[in-house]
Amino acid sequence: MTHLTTIVIFGASGDLTRRKLIPALFHLYKKKRLWEKWRIVGVSRSPMSDEEFRQKMKEGVAEFARHTYDDSEWAAFAEGLHYLPGDLTHLEDLRRLDEMLMEAEQDLDLAHRMYYLSIAPRLYESAIANLGAAGMVAEDTGWRRVVIEKPFGYDLPTAKALNEAVYAVLDESQIYRIDHYLGKETVQNIMVFRFANSLFEPVWNRNYIHHVQITAAETVDVGHRAGYYDGVGVVRDMMQNHMLQLLALVAVEPPASFDADALRNEKVKVLSAVRPITQHEAALHTVRGQYRTYRDAEGVAEKSQTATFAVIRFYIDNWRWQGVPFYLRSGKALARKTTAISIFFKEPPHVMFPMPPNAHISQNQLTICIQPDEGIHFSFQAKVPDSTARMRTVDMDFNYDDAFGPTAIPDAYERLLLDVIKGDASLFTRGDSIELAWELIDPILHGWENNNAPPLTFYESGSWGPIEADRLLAEDDGKWAVGCFEKSDKDNL
Ligand code: BG6
Repeated sequence: MTHLTTIVIFGASGDLTRRKLIPALFHLYKKKRLWEKWRIVGVSRSPMSDEEFRQKMKEGVAEFARHTYDDSEWAAFAEGLHYLPGDLTHLEDLRRLDEMLMEAEQDLDLAHRMYYLSIAPRLYESAIANLGAAGMVAEDTGWRRVVIEKPFGYDLPTAKALNEAVYAVLDESQIYRIDHYLGKETVQNIMVFRFANSLFEPVWNRNYIHHVQITAAETVDVGHRAGYYDGVGVVRDMMQNHMLQLLALVAVEPPASFDADALRNEKVKVLSAVRPITQHEAALHTVRGQYRTYRDAEGVAEKSQTATFAVIRFYIDNWRWQGVPFYLRSGKALARKTTAISIFFKEPPHVMFPMPPNAHISQNQLTICIQPDEGIHFSFQAKVPDSTARMRTVDMDFNYDDAFGPTAIPDAYERLLLDVIKGDASLFTRGDSIELAWELIDPILHGWENNNAPPLTFYESGSWGPIEADRLLAEDDGKWAVGCFEKSDKDNL
């Protein structure tokens, strides 16, 4: 049977295409994972020839996938790259694109198409409506799948409106809402770690777990993205999507099978069980911060209240997690780049060893290092040799580099693009789950605007954020985990 898969990238002159999408597709090509016959068609408003587009993409791959770039393989790959100038908010441009695609699809038994929307989010609705109006999503000759980048909505009402606009044209099975965190190898491994080992699941609950910390810290500030970021802030940018998805994966019940809906149904159950923080409780369970020089950046309002740092403490009202606090912490311009999930276990119920009065045994801690220094570490108590019963915390480490080699981890977009082609939506966010996440986030953001709002606290760039974050965690006798970076770095903290 003859067939062709065409990947149409809308917004092809943008950064995402040359930084992530084309390098990922090039890697898939090198690994021979792209379908036998494929084409990539870039579309955006800038006038460009096929040759100019190829050159621009080549420079992107050479810069962002330096270690895997290879001249001869690139030349063969580049033959599959095409470009068409056009504006997808103009129906006639889409019709022109459709004709161009159909020309290449003639006389084939199957012609599949992926439409990747790497465009300004405010254009999503009209783009999808136009794809429908141009007759480009009907699945008569092959599948038609639409990939939608984040942010999916600005709040609950806009996310609902976007879902409605999408459902007016597409079936849920045709929609792939990207959250690139779900494509990260270390995030996918959470399921394997929890459910392919029998050791952890029995203790993965309120009987043994004291609290959970999920941190996504970045050293970069908002830089040239200030225009986008101001008014959006860390909660919409990182927590509504990436971090709530991480929480869902830590807390989810084991799905019965490894298929998209089984997993996504369970994730929806978790998000439905997260106790909403009402507007009036925002000051009790959240901290918001801004790095001191944020307002100096171009594009930031003079008295901007946008949070560049936040902590949110959630509880999950179900049997497994009742009473266990989940702390989500994220920020820009912090001391280190580290994304990690740290599970703190309860102290032993009785300590028979001689210890100074009021001393505590350190809690066992399991840390899933999402990035960098990907791995999993478990810390526990060991007796210091040649002492009577002195104890010290020691580590058991799993590092991806040691176990699988330094180049084993592919970029998240590789896996995600391949999954779209395969029709596997497990690592994409379903419409109901996006709305549930907004239901949790909206009241917090409203709470930050009213009189009982927690104060906007300021922190130095290069620090770990405002002291209020430490105070909130101290209410549960917790201290922030150091995160994941080289051991030598850790020793210096
Ligand atoms: C994006 C956010 O979704 O994720 C950015 O918009 C953030 O602000 C980025 O920097 C972080 O991604 P990663 O993969 O570097 O953790």
